[in-house]
Amino acid sequence: MSEAQPVLGVIGGSGLYRLPGADVIDSRRVETPYGATSAPVTLARLGGREIAFLPRHGTTHALPPHRINYRANLWALASLGVEAVLSSAAVGSLSPDHRPGQFAVVTDVLDRTSGRADTFYDGTNDAGVQHLQTTQVWCPHLRAALIRALNRHDEDHRDRAVLAVINGPRFTSEAESAWLRSAGADLVSMTQYPEAVLAAELNLGYATLAYVTDADTGHDGSEPVSAQLVFDRLAAAQERVLAVLGTVAADWEEPYRSPRAMDPQAVARVLA
Ligand code: ADE
Repeated sequence: MSEAQPVLGVIGGSGLYRLPGADVIDSRRVETPYGATSAPVTLARLGGREIAFLPRHGTTHALPPHRINYRANLWALASLGVEAVLSSAAVGSLSPDHRPGQFAVVTDVLDRTSGRADTFYDGTNDAGVQHLQTTQVWCPHLRAALIRALNRHDEDHRDRAVLAVINGPRFTSEAESAWLRSAGADLVSMTQYPEAVLAAELNLGYATLAYVTDADTGHDGSEPVSAQLVFDRLAAAQERVLAVLGTVAADWEEPYRSPRAMDPQAVARVLA
């Protein structure tokens, strides 16, 4: 067993199942009270820092968004001692302000999922019932670090975006896409909820590096989204995604913890 102490968790989305170029230290199965994580956790060095990596869909994309064990994944990363989690996500654009090929740094969510276990504080453990304040779940410090890294790499990006999270695994209908846009969403994906709130419930900083793979149902006249299109475009952008994440890791400044602090004793009970 290695002595690696990761400071940062990285969760890879569609098309990001490994960390090519990173220096792998160890691969570890972490037992959790919630069951199995999406894959063994890879401990690696990225940007000179020790990080813990999990591909949320598994290493072969065998897990659809609604069956991902988000609680197990976040619990495992927190139990390894990470202070913050960087999430990579392929997203669709709902607005002409966000074009395929651009990055975006998510600020807020419109949750349209259902049936997902979305709290560690459901009254079934010693941590009791807690109610998370959900302003600034996407950590401003970590978001700023992502924006600095995107600027450093000269990547076309938007600093802010409201993300609608649909349950999937199907994509939206045209009417749903238009409705989400009219409700204030800029982007759409299937996975950042409940991941982001679960991270905040454990006092982990959390930020999403979103890569726009498509214009959802085709509001810009482009080909409507398909799974193959998402995989192909994210795979083509993988090196750019990793370069940005590597720069955030290299420039790591503490603390990146969530500003919406949950009672530390409650967190300690969840992790006990
Ligand atoms: N992931 C990437 N593109 C998407 C889209 N258009 N809808 C939902 N999830 C996505």
